[in-house]
Amino acid sequence: MLSGKRIILGVTGGIAAYKAAFLLREFQKSGAEVRVCMTPSATRFVGTETFSSLSRYEVAVDVFNDENSGNSWTKHIHWGEWADLFVIAPCTANTLSKIVHGQSDNMLTSTVLAARCPILICPTMDGEMYESPAVTENLKQALRVGYYVLEPESGYLASGLEATGRLPEPEVILKKSVEIIQRHRIKGPLTGKKVVVTAGPTREFLDPVRFISNPSSGKMGIAMAEAARALGGDVILLHGPVTVSIPSRLQTRSFLSADDLFEQIQDYAAADVVIMAAAVSDFKPSEKHGQKVKKERAERTIQLEQNPDILAWLGKRKKKGQVLIGFAMETEGLKENALSKLHKKNLDWICANSLSESDSGFESDRNTVHLFGRETEETFNGPKEQIAGEILRRVFADD
Ligand code: CTP
Repeated sequence: MLSGKRIILGVTGGIAAYKAAFLLREFQKSGAEVRVCMTPSATRFVGTETFSSLSRYEVAVDVFNDENSGNSWTKHIHWGEWADLFVIAPCTANTLSKIVHGQSDNMLTSTVLAARCPILICPTMDGEMYESPAVTENLKQALRVGYYVLEPESGYLASGLEATGRLPEPEVILKKSVEIIQRHRIKGPLTGKKVVVTAGPTREFLDPVRFISNPSSGKMGIAMAEAARALGGDVILLHGPVTVSIPSRLQTRSFLSADDLFEQIQDYAAADVVIMAAAVSDFKPSEKHGQKVKKERAERTIQLEQNPDILAWLGKRKKKGQVLIGFAMETEGLKENALSKLHKKNLDWICANSLSESDSGFESDRNTVHLFGRETEETFNGPKEQIAGEILRRVFADD
């Protein structure tokens, strides 16, 4: 239900904090990746180690990280950008008040302000507090400004009294979270479709310090992944050692060699759309030395063997309805070579660019792409981010 989704679980200082561990598990069982953010007082109820062990990710409590230098204090911004949903469970009266008044005095409240995803507040407190005029007003304000609120349940509370203020069971919070994510799904031609995009170069190592590679920066592939996401796709980006930063909202896996990529892409071979923008090396050294080869003993000729043609392999196994998009970098005979690859590899579309065209190529921010379909041909020119969107809108125009 939440496959590929990213959730920040915010835990504040109430006795129900222990239930957040079960909630985290529910999210994970539904396929979500979860990061936990706690207020300092929440750590009095449950240790950070519980959540870091369960989430397999550091638990964020402080905005400032004394152990690291540099810009580690901007973590709340990156977390905010990363998440598809932010669930605060339990949410104390104190944190609720801070959130609706825009305070940012700890990691949790700062991340709330930075987040661009929907936010679900699960208020949990004693009955008297829950019914107090201030909390009632704060909850109304939370709804007015667009937060989601899940009403607490009635029952025995930590005070020994029976009243409204209990944290709903994990399944109830999960159900509400799924509803919210579905409501916020980007609607476009790729909504509900699994899209795998590859980007960047491969490295074929001769020994631990030398490799064969190419100048691909990964810009075009990353732009294609972003464009697919903007059209509603559920995108995974497989990337080589790229030289540009990858937006943290993209789900990623990294590869080094063509063999690495070949192994990884098999997990996604059934995706609805495959966009193969990686610059895959056609050859690898026949022998890879475990230790650095000393120059006195180095051969002057490198023996090469062929890498698997990953796109051709995908083309052979193409399932009905699957869309395969390849790339081609040519220095001559652009149309003829691109069309030959389109047919040989059983592709639906191929994006070809020529190194001889200005405004084009490996490390440039702009590109000229000639898009060939089975019967169509069109040219796109402009910044890579812009033409990536134009190409995908053209490809999926009829969907
Ligand atoms: N490709 C691949 N596996 C390889 C080589 C290329 O999957 N071993 C993919 C690229 O990601 C690209 C398409 O195939 O989408 C075309 O790549 P390109 O290098 O232009 O063409 P090749 O098929 O390798 O042919 P040539 O190098 O002879 O032009």
